[in-house]
Amino acid sequence: MKVKLAIIMAILFSFFMLFYGGYYLINPDLQGEEILNRQGIPYPTVIAHRGASIEAPESTAAAYIKAREMKADYLEADLQRTKDGEIVVIHDQTLGRTSNVEEIFPKRKDDPVGSFTYKELKKLDFGSWFNQTSRYAREEYQGLEILTLTELIEIAKGGEHTPGLILETKDSQKYPGIEAEIVDILEEEGWLAADKEKEDFAKTIFFSFKEDSLREFKELIPEIPRLLLITDNMITRRSWAHWLGRAEGLADGLGTKGFMSWPWYIAAAHEKGLFVFPYTINELWQVKVLAHFQSSGYITDRPDVVLDFLDRIPKSLVKDLEDEV
Ligand code: G3P
Ligand code: CA
Repeated sequence: MKVKLAIIMAILFSFFMLFYGGYYLINPDLQGEEILNRQGIPYPTVIAHRGASIEAPESTAAAYIKAREMKADYLEADLQRTKDGEIVVIHDQTLGRTSNVEEIFPKRKDDPVGSFTYKELKKLDFGSWFNQTSRYAREEYQGLEILTLTELIEIAKGGEHTPGLILETKDSQKYPGIEAEIVDILEEEGWLAADKEKEDFAKTIFFSFKEDSLREFKELIPEIPRLLLITDNMITRRSWAHWLGRAEGLADGLGTKGFMSWPWYIAAAHEKGLFVFPYTINELWQVKVLAHFQSSGYITDRPDVVLDFLDRIPKSLVKDLEDEV
C-alpha cells in the first residue's frame, strides 16, 4: 500500500514538474534583467565565490587575481574580524581546514578566527592545504597569507578589468559593529564613489544570512544593494513566500542554493522586484539549466566555466579551458 502511494506521489510530482518546468521553458521570466539594470548590476552576473576557488586556494590573493583576470563581474568574500580589529577574508569559523594552524598553534586549532590577532594569522600558511588535495596545486600557493579587506580592494582595483565586490558578513552576531567598519574601509579606499553616482554598475553588494546585518548596512549606506542569503534549512523550515516577505524592504535580492532555484520561485521574487542569485554553480550542466530559465546570476567557484558558456571568457584563457575538457 505504502509503495503504491509512493508511486502515485512520484507520478503526480513528475507531472507537476513537467507542467511548471515546461511552462517556464516556453515562457521564460525576463524580468531579472530589468531588475538588475535598475540596480546598475550587470546581467547575467558572474560571481567568483571566494575567488576562482577551484583553481587556487579559496579567499587568497591568488584566487581573487585569477577571478579578476577571468573577468568575473564580482569577487565574493566572507569577512570576519581579528581580535585586534582587522577585517580579514575567511569563510570558516575556525582555521583548521584552510591553514596550518595545527602546526603553528596546536592548542588553538579549534579556536574561532576572532580569537587570533592579525599578527598571529599572518604566521599561517593558507595555501599548502590546497596543494595537498587539488589537481591545480602550484608551488607558488605555498605560504599564501591571510588577506585583509583593504588588500582585496587593492586586488579589485589592480587589473585591466575592475570587478565589483560582494561582501558577506560571516557570523556577524560575533562581530558587533563590523558593518560600519567595512563601510569605513570602502570609503577610505575610495571604493564607494562610483556607487553613489551610479556611473557604471553597483561596485559593491552586501550579502548576509543575517537580517540584522543587512538592516545595519541599510541604515549606514542604503544606496548599496543588499542580498539575503537563504540556506536549505531555512527553506525547509519556512516557505519561499515567507522569505520573500522577510527580504522585501530589507534586501534587493535573495541568494539560494542552486537546487532551490525553481523558475516559479524566481518568478515570484521578480514579482516583488527582487533578483535571485543561485549558489554554488560549478558544473556546466547546472549553468545550462539555469541559463534556460534566464538566471540573473551565477555564484560559482569556476567563473571561467560560466563565462565561457556566456561567451565572455577572455581569448587568452580559451585554450586553457579547452585543454581541460
Ligand atoms: O555565495 C553564497 C555563499 O557565499 C553563501 O555560502 O557558506 O559559501 O558563504 P557560503
Ligand atoms: Ca560567502
